[in-house]
Amino acid sequence: MTFQTDGIVVRNQRIKSLYFALTIHCPPIAEEVRPGQFVMLKVSKDRSPLLRRPFSIYRSYRLDHPERRKRGSLLIVYKKVGRGTQKMTEFRSGQKVDLIGPLGNRFSLPPFPSSKNIILVGGGVGIVTLYSLAEAARGHKLFVFIGGRTAKDILCEEDFRNAGASKILIATEDGSQGHQGTVIDLFLSWQKGHNKIEPEYIYSCGPVEMLKALANAIESQKALCQISLEARMGCGFGACWGCVVKTNDPKKPYQRVCKEGPVFNLRDIVWE
Ligand SMILES: Cc1cc2nc3c(=O)[nH]c(=O)nc-3n(C[C@H](O)[C@H](O)[C@H](O)COP(=O)(O)OP(=O)(O)OC[C@H]3O[C@@H](n4cnc5c(N)ncnc54)[C@H](O)[C@@H]3O)c2cc1C
Ligand code: FES
Repeated sequence: MTFQTDGIVVRNQRIKSLYFALTIHCPPIAEEVRPGQFVMLKVSKDRSPLLRRPFSIYRSYRLDHPERRKRGSLLIVYKKVGRGTQKMTEFRSGQKVDLIGPLGNRFSLPPFPSSKNIILVGGGVGIVTLYSLAEAARGHKLFVFIGGRTAKDILCEEDFRNAGASKILIATEDGSQGHQGTVIDLFLSWQKGHNKIEPEYIYSCGPVEMLKALANAIESQKALCQISLEARMGCGFGACWGCVVKTNDPKKPYQRVCKEGPVFNLRDIVWE
């Protein structure tokens, strides 16, 4: 079920350079949301900017969460990139914000119990989309690859550790943290050195160039790979067709990131 509802800002703080964590008390969405889904957030009370902005849910606390004060809250981790996200940095505790969600489809996990190896590959702020999945995948063997331009773009490392990740590997393009190079190079060289660890499920989110590189890298592999795509969105619920992506499904060659996605099988996407 999807709601349009007001949430109350609990906290909004900078976590690192251009990245902020926004906690909103919004029980209907917190109760309903699943890994991979997102909300459309009205960033301004006036008409500028007019369009809502899409954000993944980093964490949600259901109404039976053991810590009473967290119950019904959502956590969004966002990067200040433009007008809308600049407005979000001005949100203050106690303020009302208008949300629509949860929206979109969700990641699917291998059935429990299982000994399947799960690989998460995130680039930049894309890694935050994978965190709720890591929490849901507790009990699986989890390998996390986090990439960014510099150390300032490496997010959520500690949270993935607390979520039980078996291994966390980091790549930065300038070499300021971890391996120097792209996260896909790191993933490939790790695979070569660990050929006994066959990844069975790969989940990824990040810039298009990174996802294209991942598509090439795993072309000959058997692993199932789901990605969460980002697109500019108008409505967020399937009405405007402003967010389409080309797929190789002959019956539905164009699919909406907000409705049929944002989670797709990597091999179904036709990169243009
Ligand atoms: C399903 C989904 C989930 C998302 N989850 C998160 C999240 O958890 N955290 C987060 O920080 N961001 C997330 N994004 C991206 C976020 O929606 C945009 O960064 C935001 O809308 C930018 O708004 P703005 O007004 O600040 O920027 P604008 O002024 O609109 O644009 C500034 C710059 O950002 C680029 N940009 C804007 N929107 C997008 C987009 N959707 N994808 C890629 N580039 C964009 C523009 O091309 C431009 O260069 C998500 C996007 C989608 C579709
Ligand atoms: S944003 Fe309107 S259809 Fe996807």
